[in-house]
Amino acid sequence: MIYLGNARDRCTRTRSRRIWAAMLVGCATLPFAGSAQRLPSTPLTPVQPGSQWRDNRGRLIEAHGGGMTLYRGTYYWFGEDRSPDNRPGMRYVACYASKDLVHWTFCGQVLKLADPEHLGPHWVLERPKVFVDAHTGRFVMYAHIDDAHYKYARVMVAVSHRIAGPYCYVKSFRPFGQESRDIGQFVDDDGAAYLIFESRPTKGFFIAKLIDNDLNVEKTAFLLAPLEGGSLVRYQGLYYVVGSHMTGWKPNPNVYAVAPSLAGPWTHFKDIAPPQVDTYGSQSTMLFKVVGSRKTAVIFMGDIWKPKALWDSRYLWMPLVVGKGHLRLPSPQPWTIDVKTGVTTLMDRVSARTAAAPCRAGQGCLQGIAVGGVPQEADRDENGWALECRLWSGRVFGHADDSISAMRYCVAGCRRASPRAHGGRTWMQCENSAASAPLSRFRAARTEVPHQNTLSARTGNQGALRP
Ligand code: DGJ
Repeated sequence: MIYLGNARDRCTRTRSRRIWAAMLVGCATLPFAGSAQRLPSTPLTPVQPGSQWRDNRGRLIEAHGGGMTLYRGTYYWFGEDRSPDNRPGMRYVACYASKDLVHWTFCGQVLKLADPEHLGPHWVLERPKVFVDAHTGRFVMYAHIDDAHYKYARVMVAVSHRIAGPYCYVKSFRPFGQESRDIGQFVDDDGAAYLIFESRPTKGFFIAKLIDNDLNVEKTAFLLAPLEGGSLVRYQGLYYVVGSHMTGWKPNPNVYAVAPSLAGPWTHFKDIAPPQVDTYGSQSTMLFKVVGSRKTAVIFMGDIWKPKALWDSRYLWMPLVVGKGHLRLPSPQPWTIDVKTGVTTLMDRVSARTAAAPCRAGQGCLQGIAVGGVPQEADRDENGWALECRLWSGRVFGHADDSISAMRYCVAGCRRASPRAHGGRTWMQCENSAASAPLSRFRAARTEVPHQNTLSARTGNQGALRP
């Protein structure tokens, strides 16, 4: 049963529709304020996993548990909008548009939903994904909706005639009568669209083809593996599925399996990264394929959740090393993508000239190593990078397993600054005053510089610290 009449009422009630629609059409058709047209020689802007990502307005991007939809040459990123100033009883899905996957223009809160099914004050709307229905030309949003105790366990469907919304609530249901929590999105090379959903009682997750103008699903495959955050990609003739174990908001080692067809046979699940790094603090939400003129990149889209401040949860996107039945998530580090060619480049390989900027006059300069990529409640710089590192015998050792990149910190008011180890932390000591402070307390302007020495506490590789 489809309640379109009711849905229309709900959509019109929340906001003056005409004004909103005009605004959103603008987002879909105007050039992006946030994405300057790139000249051929202009260096690509790097993606910075784990740092604060901002949109064209300078605001934090609120698209958690998100999905990506490529439509007419533009990438649309939908996700949970957890902004602290949202109305408490409402749930919001935000949409951002980009031509390059780096500069994002805010398209609005494309779904603003009051509790649709008497789910109670702390009801849940998570992991929205938007599909393009080729038959009707409509856009269909799926999301997981639930009560505060995650017992309702259903998918929600909302539709719009424009990709950038507004979306109108249609219905909720349990696919095949099964409990459904985390959902994922997959569009195969032949255009067939699939919903992935985790089903706890069956101890696994389903891959379900969208039917009936994308408003319903039919069973396609079931994987007996109790995983959530399910995501799927087809690459060079093989299907790769990635999922996370069920540890609430806490990260865990995400795993993958491979099959020649969705029906299987699927391999055993293996870790996508060294298990001790817990997916570098993130959880999978989507595997997104960028098919370029030279290469096809597969991007791991993950969330670094901050359960006490969900609005400030971060994004860990990295190009995967994938092929011939293997898949690996590299340690997070800045990287670039050229969406036209599909070429991705890790910052390690980016030339010093494009990455390193000199400190301004009157600033001290420290080049060191930032460790982790997993924002801990430890020293962090203004972008949330973990900076907990130790100075030992003139060298920096990380407490985490992988280095991110070498960095230069320019410290205002400090003619020259050098690192000092104290109490197991690295401090910056100004040489022209007695002042010192933990690295994170300095108002440090950070620029990455490429580093030759990767750092790993486990392997004992060292990164030199050069004041
Ligand atoms: C893990 C899921 O992947 C998230 O989307 C969210 O539902 C949390 N659990 C809640 O604990």
